[in-house]
Amino acid sequence: MLILGLFAINVRIIFVNVLDRQLKDRLKTLAQAAALDLELDGGEIEVDKEPLVSPNQAIQWFDTQGNLIDQQGEYVVNLPFNPKHEIQTQLTPYPARSLTSPVVEYDKKIFIGYTRVSESTVELNNTLQSLDMRLGVGVVVALALSAVGGIWLTRQAMKPIEQSFQRLQRFTSDASHELRSPLMAIKTNAAVALKYPDGIRDLDAEKFLAIKSASTQLTALTENLLMLARSDRGLLPQPEVIDLSTLLEELVRLYQPRFEEKEIDFKAQLQEELLIFGDQIQLTRLFTNLIDNALRYTLTGGTVEVRNESKGDRLSASVQDTGMGIAPEHIEHIFDRFWQVDRGRSYQLGGFGLGLALAQGIAQNHGGEITVTSELGRGSCFIVSLPAYQS
Ligand SMILES: Nc1ncnc2c1ncn2[C@@H]1O[C@H](COP(=O)(O)OP(=O)(O)OP(=O)(O)O)[C@@H](O)[C@H]1O
Ligand SMILES: [Mg+2]
Repeated sequence: MLILGLFAINVRIIFVNVLDRQLKDRLKTLAQAAALDLELDGGEIEVDKEPLVSPNQAIQWFDTQGNLIDQQGEYVVNLPFNPKHEIQTQLTPYPARSLTSPVVEYDKKIFIGYTRVSESTVELNNTLQSLDMRLGVGVVVALALSAVGGIWLTRQAMKPIEQSFQRLQRFTSDASHELRSPLMAIKTNAAVALKYPDGIRDLDAEKFLAIKSASTQLTALTENLLMLARSDRGLLPQPEVIDLSTLLEELVRLYQPRFEEKEIDFKAQLQEELLIFGDQIQLTRLFTNLIDNALRYTLTGGTVEVRNESKGDRLSASVQDTGMGIAPEHIEHIFDRFWQVDRGRSYQLGGFGLGLALAQGIAQNHGGEITVTSELGRGSCFIVSLPAYQS
């Protein structure tokens, strides 16, 4: 827009300058011819008119005091006579430009009067108007064409990126899927070996325990990656009408023993019958991840509360804890993949930094979102907002 605008303005300026110069040249030529018509005849000034060549021009002759002696042509200007202004512009009753110049008698070299020649600028204005029109239309058309071209080019450029992103997603989901069976085999074999500890040495038993724990972690990671790849593709494998309250009640019941074990007060305040349309497994995973975080990042003696409510055409469910909280500068990152506030610590706690990324992906697939409020050292509250089911 800027380049086209500058181009159009420049073209107009150059055009106006050229037209202006041509007009001045024509007026000067006319003034020279008009000066020859003014004669000094025995002390009296006389005008010896000759026919005008151009119908849109006019001539006025003045004496040395500036009194009008004679005039010729249709387009004379009505402006007051002013010898100090060589060029004058008239707007009404018709647009015209005039040139005033003194006349000196050729032989005796005496000053005998003035001529004021003028030309109507109607035609010039029309030319400028049509130039403006053409430039305007040209700029608009060029802009429209470059916008269309820009969109087309961007789409072309995005194609390979989209393709490689899809390939990456497929790779992640295929790889995690393929990793599940061998991992399961390792885990089961380690478990079986540990079941009969008599036959193995104490040191070996420890190694088997380590294998079992590592394979459990890896299984969780591959499950997470698989789910993440699926949620990236926006898949809801089995959408159905789900009661959010029942789903949360079930989870609270399931997690109660683990909270008791850590001596955290785990409460639920659930309303009946809050229906949503979605995938049971994904939604369960979403809230499991939030509750799991609350359990993991809250110290003994704390409180965790799960709540849900209906707000018009949306439902919200929240998990609030009195845990360690998240610093303001970290909040914008917690939904990133593999991001953890304290990598070492979280890893010891068995995390990979995928839980919230997955939860956010699932919420978005269901037309919802997760928001968080948190204060360092005081606790956090994760609120999931989802569209309510409308029959
Ligand atoms: N309730 C919470 N209180 C304090 N910090 C939290 C809470 N929930 C998440 N965080 C912070 O956000 C980070 C990212 O959370 P996320 O659930 O994505 O990963 P994770 O819990 O570390 O691992 P994963 O969930 O994959 O097992 C965590 O490492 C933790 O530092
Ligand atoms: Mg987590």
